[in-house]
Amino acid sequence: MNKFQQEITQGIPNELPALKTFDSKINHAPKRKDILNKEEKKLAVRNALRYFDIKFHKTLAKEFAEELKDYGRIYMYRYRPNYEIYARPIHEYPGKCDQAKAIMHMIQNNLSYAVAQHPHELITYGGNGAVFQNWAQYLLVMKYLSQMTDEQTLVVYSGHPMGLFPSNKNAPRVVVTNGMMIPNYSKQDDWEKYNALGVTQYGQMTAGSYMYIGPQGIVHGTTITVLNAGRMIAKHGEDLAGKLFVTSGLGGMSGAQPKAGNIAGCITVCAEVNPKVVQTRYSQKWVDEVFDNLDDLVKRVQKAKINKEILSIAYLGNIVDVWEKLDTENIYIDLGSDQTSLHNPWAGGYYPAGIDFEEANELMATDPNDFKKKVQESLRRQANAINKHTEKGTYFFDYGNAFLLEASRAGADIYLDSPTFQNRKNPPKPRGGVGVKEFAYASYVEDIMGPMCFDYGFGPFRWVCTSADPKDLEKTDTIAMEVLEDLKKSSPKEIQQQMSDNIQWIKGAQENNLVVGSQARILYADADGRIKIAEAFNQAVKNGKISAPIVLGRDHHDVSGTDSPYRETANIYDGSQFTSDMAIQNVIGDSFRGATWVSIHNGGGVGWGEVINGGFGMVLDGTAEASKRLRSMLFWDVNNGISRRNWARNEGAVFAAKRAMKMEPNLKITLPNIVDTSLLESLF
Ligand SMILES: NC(=O)c1ccc[n+]([C@@H]2O[C@H](COP(=O)([O-])OP(=O)(O)OC[C@H]3O[C@@H](n4cnc5c(N)ncnc54)[C@H](O)[C@@H]3O)[C@@H](O)[C@H]2O)c1
Repeated sequence: MNKFQQEITQGIPNELPALKTFDSKINHAPKRKDILNKEEKKLAVRNALRYFDIKFHKTLAKEFAEELKDYGRIYMYRYRPNYEIYARPIHEYPGKCDQAKAIMHMIQNNLSYAVAQHPHELITYGGNGAVFQNWAQYLLVMKYLSQMTDEQTLVVYSGHPMGLFPSNKNAPRVVVTNGMMIPNYSKQDDWEKYNALGVTQYGQMTAGSYMYIGPQGIVHGTTITVLNAGRMIAKHGEDLAGKLFVTSGLGGMSGAQPKAGNIAGCITVCAEVNPKVVQTRYSQKWVDEVFDNLDDLVKRVQKAKINKEILSIAYLGNIVDVWEKLDTENIYIDLGSDQTSLHNPWAGGYYPAGIDFEEANELMATDPNDFKKKVQESLRRQANAINKHTEKGTYFFDYGNAFLLEASRAGADIYLDSPTFQNRKNPPKPRGGVGVKEFAYASYVEDIMGPMCFDYGFGPFRWVCTSADPKDLEKTDTIAMEVLEDLKKSSPKEIQQQMSDNIQWIKGAQENNLVVGSQARILYADADGRIKIAEAFNQAVKNGKISAPIVLGRDHHDVSGTDSPYRETANIYDGSQFTSDMAIQNVIGDSFRGATWVSIHNGGGVGWGEVINGGFGMVLDGTAEASKRLRSMLFWDVNNGISRRNWARNEGAVFAAKRAMKMEPNLKITLPNIVDTSLLESLF
């Protein structure tokens, strides 16, 4: 065993490791809220010390109390390993089974410097998306994985490994839960408190489930959204050439917008207030040109429109000014959205118009009430400007960032029943939401992702080559493309467009050079596509064409994995968008149909308490058992959501449910009867 392997199998070291210095070159998590009282602080330290031999308690107690004071959390920095953390080739991990080694590969990817947002605080993305709460949990989990046989299951509660339990070969090797709370204890401050106590964590979606693959996932999803938004507004089937897309944010996920706009073939203007963020995206070539003057911006957009250029522009400044300027200059906007971080409006997610970036940063710390007032004023201004554009014909959609929700809380004019919309020649139509007052604008899931992708079973399927060899990834791209081209020949017309888009994507995948971290690929596919691609991969591993096992997985933002009334399940209108049976059923169903690991989370994307989401990982090792497992599990993993979307009377899902039943005679989905609306009108 080499040194790395020895350290993994050792787990928490027997001797006190040397103290680590705080590395200020690394991006660190912000100091968390000081929320615990004196007694609770003692409890947090007592909890942390559970991991260590009592002979170290005196030293560590003091150190952990200081971490709690300085950072608001106990990360146990001293125990951060000295070896480099990244997705190593699978054979480098010590252990007794390949499934466990593949999971180590995925965990280390989520924590690597190339991938993780705050690697020393074990945060992968989204500001609080944790893989573990502290380094002791990491060390213990890796040790358990190195000891595990394929007759055991590791149980992980919010990063903490409860231990290895006897199970069987067909059971998941790991079962993860993140942030599962008694519902009444699921407010933002509950997360702050119980996370500070060290008893729960925010796993986001693919952070705490070991399935993050860097920015590639978001580029693909955003491209699909912009392309399909373009199709919605096309009057004669034309493409997006010369059309203008206006939006904001060049951050973690939002930064994918200009790149996606270029792939979709339009002109993108993306406002961003933070100069450092603009510079990062420009240096990465994710945006073509940068302007900080509105008059110059207008001239450049006019020229691009005339020449039908494919162009992405970052405007360094506030998005509100862009919407207003383009209105006064009468520049027609075809598509509009917003990706400021309005899920976090009072602490830097949204910068109000009228004050500059530095001033805003100061104000939010020195006078949070005034800052909040300014944010709300700004949201009202932004909504008014957007309304002026949509009156001229712009198609605006909410990008799952809580823009409409926060704008409504700010008193902005965005409700569907407002005279602003009802007095229009073509007022927007109600979409049938129950239990919510409807907004005049739809979210990207209501109009685009839901009806065009999720209802037909298309979602962000992904895979990772555990050999860490780019050549293997290239081979899997070719295999996936061949499978899709073959499937397209017999696909019904309803899904032809999706098939073409995905073939196009996978053909350009190598050229787009999107791999950051592990050798991973994302591809939107339906149940049939996922199963056939997985089957072909398993075969390629079996016959040695691919040199090591492949991990399959998906984003939680998918057909069946996530219940979230303002995002993934926003296009469900039978009232059940506020339930979470689908996500829970999904993870239970995946676990006994052959997933290698499963996870279920509270929080992620839209906030703690606002969403329940889950996912899986599955190792394809070329065996006949893997082939059986993938068929059973992937079929359920997609068709669970289709059955629910179908029961909610979503047309595409009714079509997909009937199609799935034809393909699999053992599947019997309950289909809804559609009621004649006139029958209901006189009843109440
Ligand atoms: N891309 C997707 O598919 C997707 C899906 C669902 C939800 N979201 C949501 O989108 C939001 C953005 O995510 P992110 O990871 O990019 O967050 P982020 O915080 O990294 O980026 C947001 C950026 O917006 C900038 N900004 C804030 N206010 C601004 C203003 N008024 N004008 C111009 N720029 C402003 C910030 O400086 C920041 O760089 C989140 O709320 C996320 O949940 C994205």
